[in-house]
Amino acid sequence: MIANVLRMGDPRLLRQAREVAEFGTAELRELVDTLWETMRVHNGVGLAAPQIGVDLRVVVFGMQTSPRYPDAAPVPETVLINPVLTPLGEAMEEDWEGCLSLPGLRGYVPRYLHLRYQGVDLHGNPIDRTVEGFHARVVQHECDHLDGILYPMRMRDLARFGFTEVLFPDAQIAPDE
Ligand code: NI
Repeated sequence: MIANVLRMGDPRLLRQAREVAEFGTAELRELVDTLWETMRVHNGVGLAAPQIGVDLRVVVFGMQTSPRYPDAAPVPETVLINPVLTPLGEAMEEDWEGCLSLPGLRGYVPRYLHLRYQGVDLHGNPIDRTVEGFHARVVQHECDHLDGILYPMRMRDLARFGFTEVLFPDAQIAPDE
């Protein structure tokens, strides 16, 4: 099923999402399928359950290539539930970021460069990875959704926030919707 993606301004995007308690259930599988289908139809590289109005700590992310981030390195397709993020070191990197809840917009967002993330998959199997760069950025962006944080709230300079087609008139960037 393809779900409606909530847009910024909807109070459901600002909630602290609830932990998942039961794994491998039909409901959880259905939620994950819906997240993947909805993410792919919008050319997303990640989607969090709160973005479709589901108040649970579930995110999906990953792709081989992305028409919205043509220069990005591949990120393994991952279902991450009840995540715990640990930045490794102080180093941060600023780069352009978009979000399916803010269609047509991009902002310049600082993120930790090196990140360890832990959590479980759909079946409750542990995930524990150490990543960097774009992969680390995607995980931080998606997991922020679970705490009601949208990327403009992380920005240092709102002068570097605007419409994708105005900011990058010559780039071949697929639209968000
Ligand atoms: Ni987002």
